[in-house]
Amino acid sequence: MSVQELVVRRGRRSGVTTMVAVHSSTLGPAVGGCRFKVYPRVHDAIDDVLRLSAAMTRKCAVAGLDFGGGKSVVALDAVPTAEQRREILLDHADLIESLGGAYLAGPDVGTGPDDMLVLSERTSHVFCLPEEHGGTGSSSGPTAVGVLAALRAGARAVFGDDGMAGRKVVISGYGSVGAHLATDLAGQGAEVIVSDVDERRLAAAREQGLSLVRPDEVLGIEADVLIPAAVGGVFGPGTEVNAPLVVGPANNQLTGDTVAADLAAKGVLWIPDFVASAGGVVYTLGREAQDLTHEQALARVENLENTTRRILDAASANGTTPLAEADALAEARLTSGAEPRTPSPQEPRTAA
Ligand SMILES: NC(=O)c1ccc[n+]([C@@H]2O[C@H](COP(=O)([O-])OP(=O)(O)OC[C@H]3O[C@@H](n4cnc5c(N)ncnc54)[C@H](O)[C@@H]3O)[C@@H](O)[C@H]2O)c1
Repeated sequence: MSVQELVVRRGRRSGVTTMVAVHSSTLGPAVGGCRFKVYPRVHDAIDDVLRLSAAMTRKCAVAGLDFGGGKSVVALDAVPTAEQRREILLDHADLIESLGGAYLAGPDVGTGPDDMLVLSERTSHVFCLPEEHGGTGSSSGPTAVGVLAALRAGARAVFGDDGMAGRKVVISGYGSVGAHLATDLAGQGAEVIVSDVDERRLAAAREQGLSLVRPDEVLGIEADVLIPAAVGGVFGPGTEVNAPLVVGPANNQLTGDTVAADLAAKGVLWIPDFVASAGGVVYTLGREAQDLTHEQALARVENLENTTRRILDAASANGTTPLAEADALAEARLTSGAEPRTPSPQEPRTAA
């Protein structure tokens, strides 16, 4: 499915190009994070926003959300000062507002709840505001809960049980989600090894008593589970993986969809990233758009274990890959009725 709408605009305050992709609004208004990043060329940012928005459509559809897929990108050519950052965000907020609720922004790589607060000065179509401003704040905790739910389903399929005690787990990326995962898995008795490119994050990992590995050694390590929790594009056609189970939150982990079959042929169970990483959006939208309590929203995140199990069972029964089955699930939801929806002015209720 190609993108429904792509708007690229140079900000009137900052002169910086920002963009929004509404990949699909078949299931509801498009949701997705706002990426704030330096790109070599604006075209690279456009490629990113198109790929990421398509992944959000699959993520929302598989997770059973009545929202479509979108994404926005601030295409920087250099790291801005604090003052420039604010101007860029206000420009971006004007762009979001001009879409009239077709796209709802949350945090992504390079942005956080405080940036959402700046966006909310110019648009109400934003979620994940800081808790003290009525939002649910960072979604990294619920995202980690969702990864752990998907991991349990994967572990049962690969090892026969979901106990993590004594299992060797490598986590690539000791950021917000990676740190949650490391703490939980170490608490369960797993041998956790982490990797990061940021010295400060490595120091934090050392303080937690975790073992470290260099980023270029991550794929070579023999482990039970590999968790990509840093960047996308980790697995290409020739990538060797030394763990039988791969599940993690990083978006767009494969360089192309055909890589899923390559991994399967190598005996690696790869759980689609758009399934494993849905916990944050499921929790946040449950709380902010559907008025669920913390417990109710968390129960929906935990349900990703059942969704993953169903996908893995279908792949095993049909001799396909989990990616093929997750795509089929998404496609079934997207084609089960619904014409593209126009959001009503109040939809969804945001935290602003
Ligand atoms: N936070 C969420 O709720 C959420 C939801 C869905 C998907 N994701 C995705 O999950 C991933 C992690 O999210 P996060 O919120 O923890 O991000 P983060 O920015 O807090 O952490 C990412 C970490 O990866 C490190 N890193 C970057 N390149 C690396 C490399 N080559 N090798 C090892 N480490 C590297 C960074 O230094 C950083 O510490 C991202 O890809 C993000 O898009 C996050």
